[in-house]
Amino acid sequence: MLSPAAPAKLTTAMQTRHPYTLEDAGRIGAAIGAVLAPGDVVLLSGDLGAGKTTLARAMLKARGLAGEAPSPTFAIVQPYAPPEVDLPIAHVDLYRIERADELIELGLDDYRHDGALLIEWPERLGPEGWPDALALTISGSGDARVLTAQVPAAWEARWPLR
Ligand SMILES: Nc1ncnc2c1ncn2[C@@H]1O[C@H](COP(=O)(O)OP(=O)(O)OP(=O)(O)O)[C@@H](O)[C@H]1O
Ligand SMILES: [Mg+2]
Repeated sequence: MLSPAAPAKLTTAMQTRHPYTLEDAGRIGAAIGAVLAPGDVVLLSGDLGAGKTTLARAMLKARGLAGEAPSPTFAIVQPYAPPEVDLPIAHVDLYRIERADELIELGLDDYRHDGALLIEWPERLGPEGWPDALALTISGSGDARVLTAQVPAAWEARWPLR
C-alpha cells in the first residue's frame, strides 16, 4: 500500500544566485556584514583565489574594521573584538587543517557565544559542519564569477539579497 508523502523537511534551505564581480563582493559583503548577529556562522567556499577573503573583509569593514583584514590562512583563526568592530567576529581559514583533533583545539564554537564566525575552507569540517550556517559558494573565475547562497531558516527573514 502506498504511504502518504513524507512531510517537507522544515530545515530546507532557500538557495539564491548572484553575479559576483569585485564590486559585487564589496556590496554583498557589506549587506551580509550589517545583519550579522551573535551565534551566526558564515561558510565561505570556493577554489583557491575564488574571493572568500575578499568577501569576509567586506563583512568586517561593515562592522567597523578600519584597514584591510589580513588573510587568516597562516593564523588559522583571526579574532576581532570591540572596539575595532562592533560585534566580535572570528575570521577562520581551515585550509591548513588536516585532522579532526586540530579542529577541536581551535574551540570555534566558543566564539559563537557572543560573536560570529566567518569560515573559509569549511569543507575541512567534514560533512557534519554547522547545519544552521549561512553557506556561500563562489564559483567561476575572472569576470564571470557567481555567488550561490544556501540560506538556512535562521537567515531567511534577514537575507539581504532578494
Ligand atoms: N568577485 C571578484 N571578482 C574578481 N576578482 C576578485 C573577486 N573577489 C576577489 N577577487 C580577487 O581575487 C584574488 C583572490 O581573492 P581572495 O584572497 O579573496 O581569494 P580566497 O578565495 O580567499 O583565496 P584562498 O583560497 O587563497 O583563501 C584577489 O586578488 C582579489 O582581489
Ligand atoms: Mg582566503
